[in-house]
Amino acid sequence: MEKEREMEEESLKIRIFPDPVLKMPTAPVTCFDARLAAFVDKMRLTMEMHEGAGLAAPQVGVSQKIALVSFEGSLYVLINPTLLEQEGEQEGEEGCLSFPGIYASVKRPARIRVAAQDVTGQERVHQAEGFLARAFLHEMDHLNGKLFIEYLSNLKRGMIRKKMYKRAMGDDD
Ligand code: NI
Repeated sequence: MEKEREMEEESLKIRIFPDPVLKMPTAPVTCFDARLAAFVDKMRLTMEMHEGAGLAAPQVGVSQKIALVSFEGSLYVLINPTLLEQEGEQEGEEGCLSFPGIYASVKRPARIRVAAQDVTGQERVHQAEGFLARAFLHEMDHLNGKLFIEYLSNLKRGMIRKKMYKRAMGDDD
């Protein structure tokens, strides 16, 4: 109980579509200090609390190139990530903590290589395929103000937008 309350106090507020911060450009991280480490830790806590597979800084209102992905017990910290290579194609269902209860099928590359810095500023190259590749790409899109609904048909995207606007107006049906 104590632990739960502690987690709630430490967690960050998730920004829900159509919050404009989700569409804003992000700045590269230049300072790899204790403050960054503390922020990344808060992001991790927030992602875990909401049972997300990933979380990008704009989703907690911070326009910086920081994203996390959690997969099979591993935590991937992607700071200033860049896509080096992509190959193949896959299609699968995606959700997003900024779109509660919304899921849609999205086409993505099947295999990728990504360069990113970790929380200490060390550059690392990650290879990912399948779900992990999908999660990396979804979170990296957030850092460019791109949302998964932008991959959908106009009709489907329109339906989701309408639902989200209604939700924002407090008219949840
Ligand atoms: Ni998302």
